[in-house]
Amino acid sequence: MNLIEAIMARHSVRSYETRPLADDVVDKLQESINQYNTVSGLRMQLVTGDPETFDCFWAHYGKFTGVTNYIAMVGAPDAAELCGYYGEKLVLEAQMLGLNTCWVGLSYKKVPGRYTIAKGEKLHLVIALGYGTTQGVMHKSKTIDKVSKCQGEMPKWFRAGVEAALLAPTAVNQQKFRFELIGDRVRATTGWGFYSKVDLGIAKLHFEIGSGKPSSIWL
Ligand SMILES: Cc1cc2nc3c(=O)[nH]c(=O)nc-3n(C[C@H](O)[C@H](O)[C@H](O)COP(=O)(O)O)c2cc1C
Repeated sequence: MNLIEAIMARHSVRSYETRPLADDVVDKLQESINQYNTVSGLRMQLVTGDPETFDCFWAHYGKFTGVTNYIAMVGAPDAAELCGYYGEKLVLEAQMLGLNTCWVGLSYKKVPGRYTIAKGEKLHLVIALGYGTTQGVMHKSKTIDKVSKCQGEMPKWFRAGVEAALLAPTAVNQQKFRFELIGDRVRATTGWGFYSKVDLGIAKLHFEIGSGKPSSIWL
């Protein structure tokens, strides 16, 4: 499975088998986490075998079952977009490793001692992961026209980027991001909304993958 296929196959999954993650899967995820923490300054932390974090009213209300593994997205208070960008890299890698995932802003509880939060940092949110009991379902989506703007005919690469962004997970499926083509570069913005800056980071990663353009595309 390549990254584009992972984008198409990924849907939020909230119900998991209780079997633990395979050792080689843990090693590969940990290696990527170490690498992305170094380049981003985030302190993403993989937690395995913890049944407590998703044993609370909001997790049950959100129909989460069997979640014992997650990535704690820890970083500076202004690192929301970075969390989205690097967290989604891990989400797509997890999909390629045969796992399922769900970004979770609210439906969990904070259990002391499971991860570390240094002074000046915060836990932004978590990403639940494991072997899903389903593969999830495709979300409803806005149209390309609703979330993008360009003068004249839309270049193929720009359309492919927007299409990939429309497949991205966003909090409550809000899809508040917008992409505007200006010359040969792109301005990505977001409207106000719950976790919309995390969503923007996620959508920008999808756009880069779909369009085949590097991160220097951003204005
Ligand atoms: C930043 C963020 C926060 C989210 N928080 C929650 C949450 O607290 N509870 C939940 O059940 N789903 C949560 N989700 C999952 C979204 O509901 C889901 O991504 C969206 O409905 C689109 O569906 P899809 O991921 O299957 O494409 C979150 C997603 C994102 C990106």
